[in-house]
Amino acid sequence: MATDVAMATEVLIANHSLPRLGQPAPVFEAETTHGTLRLDDFRGSWLVLFSHPADFTPVCTTEFIAFAELAPELKKRGVELCGLSIDSTFSHIAWVRNIERNFGVKIPFPVIADLNKEVATLYGMLMPGESKTATSRCLFVIDPNGILRAMIYYPLSTGRNTQEVLRLIDALQATDKHGIATPANWKPGDKVIVPPPATTDDAEARMQAGFETTDWYFSKKAV
Ligand code: BEZ
Repeated sequence: MATDVAMATEVLIANHSLPRLGQPAPVFEAETTHGTLRLDDFRGSWLVLFSHPADFTPVCTTEFIAFAELAPELKKRGVELCGLSIDSTFSHIAWVRNIERNFGVKIPFPVIADLNKEVATLYGMLMPGESKTATSRCLFVIDPNGILRAMIYYPLSTGRNTQEVLRLIDALQATDKHGIATPANWKPGDKVIVPPPATTDDAEARMQAGFETTDWYFSKKAV
């Protein structure tokens, strides 16, 4: 019986499609260390929703400390954080208290206790090839309108770079503010990419448009 349920869950996970960029993020209601939370509770703010494999593990501990240290910079940008793993609320509470005691870092964000794997399945956080019981290191950026704007998937073995998460938020917010794109390794203060022209007339006009133009399809400007 237990095996039947496990097999049915695995089929559900394998057949569940991943969320898609540019579409509404899957809605959820979940128990967290800050009480019951719904996706809708974050509407009006940016949200970084991220999963970790398990409480009381070393790489995850370094990530929680890094996200806690990043939280003030995220707050300045109107971004909330929310963690998730397939552990109980009691485990989460014990772990965040342990992190504070051992490392002197208070975890300011809620952590979802996804024991029934509901949110993990909706967001495609389970990679059965890596683990049948733990979520991989997945991260979703959801904008104030509830639209999924970016996803990062990392394996169990590799801790994430939180400075890259901050850079991603800065890039998305610059795109929304200025209608531009950002080049490889862009950081705030660097020039941005002007979207390329879509017609031959616009391509001709682009050469005289006053941007830093290398060729008709490649223009940069300061913002
Ligand atoms: C860790 O956080 O240390 C970890 C968790 C799962 C697999 C490997 C490492």
